[in-house]
Amino acid sequence: MVDLFDKLKMEAGPLAKYSHFADGYFTFPKLEGDIGPHMKFNGRMVLNWSLNNYLGLANHPEVRRVDAEAAAQYGLGSPMGARMMSGNSVHHVELERQLAEFEKKEDAMLLNYGYQGVVSIIDAIVDRKDVIVYDAESHACIIDGVRLHMGKRFVFGHNDMESLEKQLQRATKLVEETGGGILVITEGVFGMSGRQGDLKGVVALKEKYKFRLFVDDAHGFGTMGATGAGTGEEQGVQDKIDLYFSTFAKAMASIGAFVAGDKRIINYLRYTMRSQIYAKSLPMPLVVGAIKRLELLRTKPELKEKLWTIVRAMQSGLVDQGFNIGLTTSPVTPILFKGGVAEAAHMALDLRENFNIFCSVVIYPVVPKDVIMFRIIPTAAHTLEDVERTLKAFSALKEKLDSGYYKSLELEALAKPV
Ligand SMILES: Cc1ncc(COP(=O)(O)O)c(C=O)c1O
Repeated sequence: MVDLFDKLKMEAGPLAKYSHFADGYFTFPKLEGDIGPHMKFNGRMVLNWSLNNYLGLANHPEVRRVDAEAAAQYGLGSPMGARMMSGNSVHHVELERQLAEFEKKEDAMLLNYGYQGVVSIIDAIVDRKDVIVYDAESHACIIDGVRLHMGKRFVFGHNDMESLEKQLQRATKLVEETGGGILVITEGVFGMSGRQGDLKGVVALKEKYKFRLFVDDAHGFGTMGATGAGTGEEQGVQDKIDLYFSTFAKAMASIGAFVAGDKRIINYLRYTMRSQIYAKSLPMPLVVGAIKRLELLRTKPELKEKLWTIVRAMQSGLVDQGFNIGLTTSPVTPILFKGGVAEAAHMALDLRENFNIFCSVVIYPVVPKDVIMFRIIPTAAHTLEDVERTLKAFSALKEKLDSGYYKSLELEALAKPV
């Protein structure tokens, strides 16, 4: 028998074991100033590629004005209580109406946080007789929702429609015995690789198998599709998505989330979802601010066009220079290198200290052991000069990596560059 906390101190976990040198620099860094491509880090201005502020709305003057006015008018306390009891308002209802209309669904429901929301939606819509079939590279909120499920769950290979079909066959057999139903869960845009979920492929399987489809489109909302309605719109299958989810934490540059679908199912969720029934509703400034953001997202297509100008310049520039950007078909732009954790850390350090570029680096266990992934998030607020500067910096980094320079440096040599 051990003392529980002693065990935690001994087994730091896959990322915490680096905290002695990473803390405050690679992990939990403090970016200061107005949210945008140029922010202060460690006392110096850096070019920042690590915020999901896709449309540049975080610091849009109209957004800042409405946020401030709503905070002054309502305070952060309003409304008090859960939506069902005393926390509803005309603004909450109006935002839901507008989201449903934008997503071409009968109804929509606000959620306090995306992560909680997804976990709780999954929890609410399946019981032990039902089977969940989900993509192997699903976001943690999907995985955690699936973990709450008392019935069977089958995972299919990432975006692999053959594998999905096999799992649907297994699931179908099972629910024929239990009398349950099948829920398929995938994402619109996978946030690490930038790859779109094969929604068209999933939807095609509806011809052969009976299931309902839940799509987390956190990175597709506002960035994909002709009107920005997301990856369902992009692939022409929005009407076949049974439950469409997005967070406000990315293109909307705020907090909160929503789920949209058929009226009766959304109503079922309103009266069933534990994370909403047993929690205070979204504060009024967030709701009023979200209405303004949605208006800009719908009426200013130039924001999405500008985002894509930056995305195309960055992605084609990287490919032209021989970089591996994986299989992205969205703004999310990974740059993949071969190397270990020490090399990754030294590259990121070099990028920050010598090129004044801030870009998150992703290491094992998020990517395989010998892979280094820099993840660039272009936004409408970036410029083509920002792209040029970044392409040059990555070329210099690549040359050094190929020459073995970073390999010659020890991980411990990093100790506190701050
Ligand atoms: C795919 C995906 N789903 C859900 C979430 C969680 O959303 P939130 O930040 O609103 O909790 C995120 C990250 O923010 C995400 O990337």
